[in-house]
Formats: sequence, C-alpha cells, structure tokens
Amino acid sequence: MKGIILIGFMGSGKSTIGKLLAQKTGMEHIDFDDLLVQEIGMSVQEFFDEYGEAAFRREETSLLKRFLDHEQVISTGGGIVLRPENRALLKQMAPVIYLHTEPETFISRIKNDQKNVRPLILSKTPEEIQDVFTPRIPFYEESASLVIATSERTPEEIVQEILEKI
Ligand code: S3P
Repeated sequence: MKGIILIGFMGSGKSTIGKLLAQKTGMEHIDFDDLLVQEIGMSVQEFFDEYGEAAFRREETSLLKRFLDHEQVISTGGGIVLRPENRALLKQMAPVIYLHTEPETFISRIKNDQKNVRPLILSKTPEEIQDVFTPRIPFYEESASLVIATSERTPEEIVQEILEKI
C-alpha cells in the first residue's frame, strides 16, 4: 500500500488518527512537527522565535520533497498547505486526506493542549483563531484527494472510513 498523508488545521486530530492508521495498516507513522523538532534540536516555538515562520515553512517544503515517494502514514503541520509549492507537492502524494473539523472542536482541543505550543495562535481569541483558519480552507480542499468529516466521530470510525475510501 502507498503511504497516506493527513492534512488539516491544528487540533483536527492528524497525530491521533495518523498513529491509529499506522497501527491498522502496519505502516510506520511520521509526524512532521516531531521529526523537525528532533532534527533541528529545538521546539517549534523556539524555531519560530529564532528564525521566523518563513524559515519553518521552508523546512516543511524540504520534508515534503524528502518524503515524495513515501510509504508511511504522515501527519503534517497545519500550515503545510500555505506555500503554493507545498500544495503542488501534495498533489503528487495522494492519498492526501483532509481531516475536516468544526472550529468549536479544534479550538477547544488547541486551548486544552498543554504539550504543543502553537506560536501562531498563542493567546488568540476563538474569533482570531477562526481568522487564521478560514483563508486556509480552500488550500486544504485543493490539496486533498479525500475529505473526511471528523466531528462527533471516534478515531476508530474515522480510520475505518479512510481505509474504505482510499
Ligand atoms: C502550525 C501548526 C502546527 C505547527 C506550527 C504551525 C500551523 O502543527 O506546525 O505550530 O501553522 O497551522 P499542528 O497542526 O500539528 O498543531
């Protein structure tokens, strides 16, 4: 089986679903944020502070190029679709699954997640978070080969649907 890529906004469940998909398919799971943190030796927050968002986006592009012919389940960072170059790369990497999640769900998950500090939405109000998300919607849709609605469904149900549809 070819690898699977998961895209979607922060808090849409890319890491949880990615791990479960990997378990069910026997594939390896790679989380781009975790891999970057491991390779650059600092947290995402520290990297943003030190080098800025543009540099972080360039790192994401090199990861996509490196994994163009991948055979793993890959959970991407929520902003991977921002660069046109990345969207073009993602189109060559199908199946690319957009985990579509309602704002109430991802906003409450993000706010309750002590482990991952997300520099782009740190101390933003729910309305401001929505403003980060809205312009990205067409980019997720354009990059995905499959859209899966995740709200009010268990990870098992979501993974089942993905496996039936790819
Ligand atoms: C980002 C999402 C984060 C991380 C970084 C930027 C974004 O990943 O890559 O903080 O711009 O949406 P998650 O989607 O895994 O939180």
